[in-house]
Amino acid sequence: MAGAAIGGIALGAVGGYSILPAKETIITQDVPLEVPEHPWVYAKLDVDKVKERAYAAYFEHGCSYGAFEGIIGELQDTVGHPFTSMPTIMSKYGKGGTVGFGTLCGALNGASMAMNLVSTDLNMVTEIVGEYTETAYPAWKPVVAKKTDDDLPTSVSGSPLCHVSVTKWCEASGFGSGSNERKERCGRLTAEVAGRTVEILNGMADGTFSAVFANPDSVTGCNGCHGDDGNVANVHAKSDCVQCHADAHDN
Ligand code: HEC
Ligand code: HEC
Repeated sequence: MAGAAIGGIALGAVGGYSILPAKETIITQDVPLEVPEHPWVYAKLDVDKVKERAYAAYFEHGCSYGAFEGIIGELQDTVGHPFTSMPTIMSKYGKGGTVGFGTLCGALNGASMAMNLVSTDLNMVTEIVGEYTETAYPAWKPVVAKKTDDDLPTSVSGSPLCHVSVTKWCEASGFGSGSNERKERCGRLTAEVAGRTVEILNGMADGTFSAVFANPDSVTGCNGCHGDDGNVANVHAKSDCVQCHADAHDN
C-alpha cells in the first residue's frame, strides 16, 4: 500500500525528472535539490571533532569509512546540502586495504576521496599519502578508548600499503594482527589521517597550504631510468623502491 502511494506521488511530483522514487527528496519536493559541479565548496572543520568522529566510525565499518565519515559526516552536519546527498557508507569497501587485500590503507583511501570531493588539487592527496609513509603512528589518543586505553608502540611504514603498515606495526609492537591492540592502533591511525586531511583542507581554505612531502631518493633516482619517461621504462610508481627491491643492481 505504501509502495503504491509513493509511486503515485512520485509520478505526479517529479514531472520530467524521474519516475523512480529512489530518494526521499524526489518524493517530498517538486524539484530535486541541485547537485553542484565538482568540486563542492568546503567549509573549515574542527580537527579534534573530526578525529573523534573518525575514530568512532572506524569501529562501526572500518578504516576507510572511518576517515570518510569523519570528514564528510562533519560537513553533512555543519554545511548540510550537498554533502547530505551522499551516503558515507559508500566508502566501506576500502577497509583492510580494499576488502582485506592489503593494498592502499583504507584510511588514506577514504581521506583522499573526501579531499578530492572538495578540491581538484591532487598535490594535497600526494601530501596526505606521502606524509603517511613517513609518520610514526599512532601518536594520538581518543578521549575514551574503545579497545585499550594504553599508549601504543609506534612504527613508520615507509609505504601506503595496508599490508606493510600493519605488519611493520605488529613487528614493532609484538601484538598480533588480530589483536585488540592492532584494531585500536588502526582506529587511532584513522583519526590521525582524517585530522591531518582536515588540517590540509583548512589550509587550502585559508590559502596557506603548501606541500612539504618530497619523494624518497630512490624514487627520483631509480625512476630516472625505470620511470614512465626513462630509457628502461615500465615502472609506474612512486612508492619507495628499495623497500621491495633492496637487492636490485647488487651484482
Ligand atoms: C642508470 C639507469 C638505472 C638506474 C638509475 C636504475 N636502474 Fe634498475 N635497471 C637498469 C637496467 C638497464 C636494467 C636491465 C633492464 C633489462 O634487462 O630489461 C635494470 C634492471 C632492474 C631490475 C630487474 C633486474 C634485477 O636486477 O632484479 C630491477 C628490479 C631494477 N632494475 C630496480 C632498480 C631500482 C630499485 C633502482 C634504484 C635503486 C634502479 N633499478 C636504478 C637501469 C637502471
Ligand atoms: C610494494 C613493493 C614494490 C615497490 C614499492 C616497487 N616495486 Fe618494483 N616490482 C615489485 C614487484 C612485485 C614486481 C614484479 C616482480 C617480478 O616481475 O618478478 C616489480 C617489478 C619491477 C621491475 C621489473 C623487474 C623485472 O624483473 O623485469 C622493475 C624494474 C621495478 N619493479 C622497479 C621499481 C622501481 C624503480 C620502484 C620505485 C619507483 C619500484 N619498483 C617499487 C614490487 C615493488
